[in-house]
Amino acid sequence: MAILEILQYPDPRLNKPAERVEKIDAGTRKLIDDMVETMYAAPGVGLAATQVDVHKQIIVIDISEDHGDLRVFINPEVTRREGVAVNQEGCLSVPGIYDNVERAEMVTVTALDRNGSRFTLNASGILATCIQHEMDHLEGKVFVERLSELKQNRVRAKLKKRQRKAA
Ligand code: NI
Repeated sequence: MAILEILQYPDPRLNKPAERVEKIDAGTRKLIDDMVETMYAAPGVGLAATQVDVHKQIIVIDISEDHGDLRVFINPEVTRREGVAVNQEGCLSVPGIYDNVERAEMVTVTALDRNGSRFTLNASGILATCIQHEMDHLEGKVFVERLSELKQNRVRAKLKKRQRKAA
């Protein structure tokens, strides 16, 4: 396995929509394993292939504290959404930035697992938020792009300042 480089906002490659996975092969499974290792090493609770510059519809999520609840979603689709929830989100592509985002409170998702078997999941709470956040990545959208223009400008200014300090 390998730890992959995570694209950092505002890298324009984060805005590229992902394509459906037509065939789940050894290469797909290797990518999934690498994504999982990258997510755990970061550490984070979710990662979309888009964030490692692979523009395929693949998401890995583990919201547990002990790496005991790994979920893989290939070609995920939301078939039902219900309610409204506002939760604070963060992102491995926008380190150190956290803000409230409004999303559906509950979602029903259908996807393929790493063996290509179709499953349906009813998710609520953090899991629902996380799924919607990662599915945004597959559409080329970073959570900060859901914030007001004012807040987005502040985020970009903060990141620029930080990059200057690091240089
Ligand atoms: Ni993210």
